[in-house]
Parts: sequence; structure tokens; C-alpha cells
Amino acid sequence: MKMARAMLLIITVLAVSSELGSCKGVQFIFGDSLSDVGNNIYLSKSLAQANLPWYGIDFGSGMPNGRFCNGRTVSDIIGDKMGLPRPPAFLDPSLTEDVILENGVNYASGGGGILNETGGLFVQKFSLYKQIELFQGTRELIEKKIGVNASEKFFSEAHYTVALGSNDFINNYLLPIYGDLWKYSDSSFIDYLTETLEHQLKILHTLGARQLMVFGLGPMGCIPLQRVLSSSGDCQDRTNKLALGFNKVGNKIVNDLSSNLKNVSFRFGDAYDVVEDVINNPNKYGFSNSHDPCCSFGRIRPALTCNPASTLCKDRSKYVFWDEYHPTDRANEMIANEIIRKLGFLNGNQTISRPAAAPADAPSPAYAENGAKSMMDCLPLTRGLEVITIILTAADVMA
Ligand SMILES: *[C@@H]1O[C@H](CO)[C@@H](O)[C@H](O)[C@H]1NC(C)=O
Ligand SMILES: *[C@@H]1O[C@H](CO)[C@@H](O)[C@H](O)[C@H]1NC(C)=O
Ligand SMILES: *[C@@H]1O[C@H](CO)[C@@H](O)[C@H](O)[C@H]1NC(C)=O
Ligand SMILES: *[C@@H]1O[C@H](CO)[C@@H](O)[C@H](O)[C@H]1NC(C)=O
Repeated sequence: MKMARAMLLIITVLAVSSELGSCKGVQFIFGDSLSDVGNNIYLSKSLAQANLPWYGIDFGSGMPNGRFCNGRTVSDIIGDKMGLPRPPAFLDPSLTEDVILENGVNYASGGGGILNETGGLFVQKFSLYKQIELFQGTRELIEKKIGVNASEKFFSEAHYTVALGSNDFINNYLLPIYGDLWKYSDSSFIDYLTETLEHQLKILHTLGARQLMVFGLGPMGCIPLQRVLSSSGDCQDRTNKLALGFNKVGNKIVNDLSSNLKNVSFRFGDAYDVVEDVINNPNKYGFSNSHDPCCSFGRIRPALTCNPASTLCKDRSKYVFWDEYHPTDRANEMIANEIIRKLGFLNGNQTISRPAAAPADAPSPAYAENGAKSMMDCLPLTRGLEVITIILTAADVMA
């Protein structure tokens, strides 16, 4: 008997061009531990590394990934909502020109500050000047790959985020182990810091940045590590005032740059007020604890005390703080939503910063990836989406 063979091939090619509110382009992120997605893991001498459980427990496989959080960073969440790919860490060994052209780069480094001398106690980290220097190297690499004109276009269409400053206070000014910092008062230090930041933003502009967000500071006097400085366990009022002062001057500097530089949109956003309200009224927002770290090493409280021997809180979505310094995934989501609202990215009515019931489980990245895109009325750049579906069916028919 002969075997008759039939092959059935169905190929459907569907090309849809539509505007789904996803942004064109990629992101370049400059920051500290609040935005680090793994650079410090590759800095072998760094004392600020999120490379042990329980960091990353609510992200992907649940293994540590370099983020100083149980889940997503604020930049992760904002980028997701803008429909932008998550840029890999600069030191990620898989980073190539093609990866950069698709995804951008994240230069953020735990312990880093606006000032070079900030975070010296962590031994190895990228300060903002260093991160900008690395970005300059990235630019040269891309220029070689795609040519000057295409490279200029690529970098002018990219989105830039700059989010540093808390280490300049917590791990520098307020720990005056560097002699020359004694000469500053609170307000002259804020001026020094914001003038330095202004200079850095101008360099980024020279290097092609046109759409740039600067994140302000939260009430950093209320992080668990600051609360333990007083016997009452209250927030450190002076530290909070420094954050407010930085936000006020930073906001003005960024807005002035935005109006004085040609063809740019530089914007400043902070979530100070909302986080302060969350800390004072956690129940209103579905949190049960806004004082203690969820991942805690009891009474031994230097900086990074979340490790496999630490105790975890029962419900990570009910804690504002993940460790001594850093907010939880859920708190980061509130911060991201508030920054988006302040920057006016969402069309008016979607005030997503209002109190919401806590999810039953700690939010997972997958949940974020699905929920986000359609909410975002991003910057006016949209790109056509091409969907190509190919179905191949091969059938052997016996006769
Ligand atoms: C800061 O560090 C960079 C190198 O990362 C260096 O080029 C620059 O001169 C330094 N600036 C100051 C003010 O020390
Ligand atoms: C690059 O752009 C300039 C000015 O827009 C143009 O004169 C030049 O021909 C372009 N170069 C290439 C290689 O396309
Ligand atoms: C401003 O941006 C637009 C669009 O990217 C560009 O066509 C134009 O040349 C830019 N103008 C200046 C002065 O850079
Ligand atoms: C936003 O709210 C205003 C009034 O609060 C309403 O008139 C408008 O239709 C709303 N827009 C959308 C897109 O829901």
C-alpha cells in the first residue's frame, strides 16, 4: 500500500498598523539603588549589592536580580506604563549594540550620587558623572555601528531618566566623614547639589537628550534606617526638610532648563506628598505597616540587612518598606503612579494614585506587564505595530 502524503500549509500573515499608545524609542536610565537593575552585582568590590535572597522574591523567577526590592523599581513601572522596553544593566555581559538599539541601557548603581564623593563607604559604585561618561562611550559605540546621522536621531528620540540624590544626603552630607563637606549649611549643600545636577543635565543635553525626566526625593527621613536614629522612632524631620528643599530647587532648575534649551522636554516629578500620606495613614492605602522593613534582620540594622537569614513579613503587599532603605514593589507602584500623574503623562481622569485595595498576593511583574500599556497616553510618539502570525500545519495522511 502506498503512503500518500499530504502536506497542509497555512500561512497567515497579518500586518496591522495601529497606535496602541506605546512609545517609540528606548530608555537610558541614570540612578542609584532605587533604579539599579544589576550593575552593582558586577562591581565585585561593591558593598551595596542586592545579590542575596530575599531580594527579587516577587520578580521573575524569584531569584536575586540586582534590584534592591522584592519586585519592580519605580523606573521599571513607569517604563512599562509608557510601553518602553526595560533596559538591561550596563554591565550585563549580554549587552551588545543590537540590544542597546532595541532596549537602551540602565547605568544606575546602588550607592551612587550626584556628587562623585557620595557613597564612598560602598567602595565601588557609579556616580552620576561616571554614568554619564559610560553613556558617552555607549554613544560612540552606536555611532560606529549605525553612523552619525542615524545615531543622532536614535539618541534624540530616546527617553532619559535621572533619579539620584538620596545618597548625597543619607550617605554623604548627613554622615560627614568627608572633611570638605563641613563647610556647607543645609541650604548651601542643596544649592551645591542642584547646581551640580544642572551641569550634568546640560551635559546630557549636549549628548543628545531631549526627553528627560528627573525624579525628586521622597520623605527619606522616614526610611527605617533614619527612624532608628531617634529613640522615639519618629521620622527625622531635618532629613525630610532636606528632601523637600532638594525637590523645590530641583524642580525649578529642571523647568528653567526645559524652557531655555532648544527643543527639549525636561520634567521633574516627585512623590513626596503621597508617600508622606501613605506613611502617616497606611491603612487608607491598604498598607498595614509603614515603619518597619518587611525583610528584617532584627535589631542589627546597618544598610543592607535583607539576606537569607532575615525574617520576612507575612504579606509583602502590606508593607511600605522592603528593607532599611528601599520601598516594596507595591509602594514603588504608588510612587510611579504619582510621578506619572505629576508629569501629566496620563490623560486627566486616570488618577491611579488614589487608595486602592491591596492585592491578595504581592504584585508580580507579569501583572504589571499586562495591566499597564493601555492606560498610558504616552508622549505623542507612537509606532505602528506589526503582528505577523505564521501557522504551519503539516499532516501526514496514510492511505
Ligand atoms: C567626577 O568624576 C569624573 C569621572 O567619573 C571626573 O571626570 C570628574 O572630573 C569628577 N568631577 C569632580 C568635580 O570631581
Ligand atoms: C547626514 O546629515 C547631513 C545633514 O542633515 C547631510 O548633509 C549628510 O549627507 C548626512 N550624511 C549621511 C551619511 O547621510
Ligand atoms: C526640533 O525637533 C524637531 C523634531 O525632532 C526637529 O525636526 C528640529 O530640527 C529640531 N529643532 C532644533 C532647533 O533642534
Ligand atoms: C474626564 O472627566 C471629565 C469630568 O470630570 C469628563 O467630562 C470627561 O468626559 C472625562 N474624560 C474621560 C476620557 O473619561
